[in-house]
Amino acid sequence: MTIAQPIASRIGDPTLRNRVMSAEDAAALVAPGSTIGMSGFTGSGYPKSVPLALAARIEAEHAAGNPFQVKVWTGASTGPELDGALAKAGGIEFRLPYNSDPIAREKINAGEMNYFDMHLSQVAPMAWQGFLGKLDTAIVEVSGITSDGQLIPSSSIGNNKTWLDQAEKVILEVNHWQSEALRGMHDIYYGTALPPHRRPIPLSSPNDRIGQPYFRCDPKKIVAIVETDAPDRNAPFKAPDEVAQSIAGHLLDFFLHEVSKGRLPPQLLPLQSGVGNVANAVLTGLMNSPFENMTAYTEVIQDGMLELLDAGKLRSASATSLSLSPTAAEWFNDHAYRFRDKLILRPQEISNHPEIVRRLGCIAMNGLIEADIYGAVNSTHVMGSRIQNGIGGSGDFARNAYVSVFMTPSTAKNGKISAIVPKVAHVDHIAQDVQILVTEQGLADLRGLAPKQRAALIIENCAHPDFRPALRDYYKRAMEGSYGKHAPHLLDEALSWHLRFVKTGSMQAE
Ligand code: COA
Repeated sequence: MTIAQPIASRIGDPTLRNRVMSAEDAAALVAPGSTIGMSGFTGSGYPKSVPLALAARIEAEHAAGNPFQVKVWTGASTGPELDGALAKAGGIEFRLPYNSDPIAREKINAGEMNYFDMHLSQVAPMAWQGFLGKLDTAIVEVSGITSDGQLIPSSSIGNNKTWLDQAEKVILEVNHWQSEALRGMHDIYYGTALPPHRRPIPLSSPNDRIGQPYFRCDPKKIVAIVETDAPDRNAPFKAPDEVAQSIAGHLLDFFLHEVSKGRLPPQLLPLQSGVGNVANAVLTGLMNSPFENMTAYTEVIQDGMLELLDAGKLRSASATSLSLSPTAAEWFNDHAYRFRDKLILRPQEISNHPEIVRRLGCIAMNGLIEADIYGAVNSTHVMGSRIQNGIGGSGDFARNAYVSVFMTPSTAKNGKISAIVPKVAHVDHIAQDVQILVTEQGLADLRGLAPKQRAALIIENCAHPDFRPALRDYYKRAMEGSYGKHAPHLLDEALSWHLRFVKTGSMQAE
């Protein structure tokens, strides 16, 4: 919603106050067909009123016989007022890099919207390299503007630094709902460069500050400022069920085992936790674990991580976004001052940077759609063709982590689908990037194992008992009939499980 009266205190620079206008007037400044860099990373820090007004304008023009679309670049997923509204209006011609909005998902899977799903750490560098084309307009939510015109970021950073630098014109939303205590929690690093001028990023501990707290922005480019008072919108988390608790339990046992072997320090290594309910359940499990003094170097701060921080179990957390449920977000707004020394939000090219993930030795924990008997993982495409969300930051972290964990319930769709299949129908993470696989059935430690050793462990430890006999049978016959015996497969049969589901609605043999 757009608030009626601008509150001057959030726009400290008096020379910018005359650019305050309505969301409708700001949306009218967007040229049809143009490329827009939007803020937003999960349902946090995305512009909440100009995209809605733009969607209304697109609908009106469509009705008047002048349809147009725009190209949308973001940090990652956003909220319904952005992706949902624009997709519903049929207004998005092309989108990158990660989407979880259900309306946009339908449009993508119906073949009506082009979607470039890419590693999140690579978006800003690719924009600078010029591979993505020209950026016309940035629409960025901020929590305020300083007296000298610098922009105080909001609850996510994403690619905003790059959008503000690259766009020809900038539209700002100043959101009064965001806590003013966010000021100072951000660390915007302006030292990145293109080859051959790249230098090491000087970050060697998760809570290092290497940049500045504000975005710079050429004031001449700011064509509109819209004031809002609208909450971030992330879905609430489900209370951890038995399956999620079992997954968390197996993982915590594994961490304890690794500490006892001296392969992990007692405070563990910086944690990266992916999106979703299972990831949140693992964080909740850590709350009751013996681990103390932990750190996080991750992409999103979910409810579980906030609790760990508040309880002092987690010493500090670095991310690019606060991805909190509505209840946790309201609580955070009231208590944000408590986290000023513990929480750092960075651009996603830094939060997900392979160089830093490798240097810090992160423990990466991500979800999946399906894994195969050799450990390759599909995180994105149901039945190999229908995109669920996107690869997000999972590739940035999995390949470069000290320990790369993937976790999932062993079945989906009420037991009709096995998450462990002979061959994944789409590959996001090759077996070399998948070290630990966990389901509620158990954990497979795949480090140092050859494909046939992996298969035995994955089938026996991770697959659901209902699907184990069929997986054993497939594997045995593959050992006998495969062209090669390194990673045996019967190619004509490998994807038959998926075909069975597509035809009958179940992977179970009839
Ligand atoms: N076959 C078919 N559908 C499947 C499936 C499978 N093997 N596994 C899961 N699904 C479906 C679920 O049924 C659910 O469908 P619904 O929305 O219609 O109910 C949906 O996929 C999401 O699954 P859910 O069990 O709720 O999992 P989640 O919230 O833990 O998310 C991913 C799992 C893989 C979708 C999610 O982790 C993701 O998007 N990962 C990629 C990005 C990423 O890892 N980001 C973090 C990096 S920092």
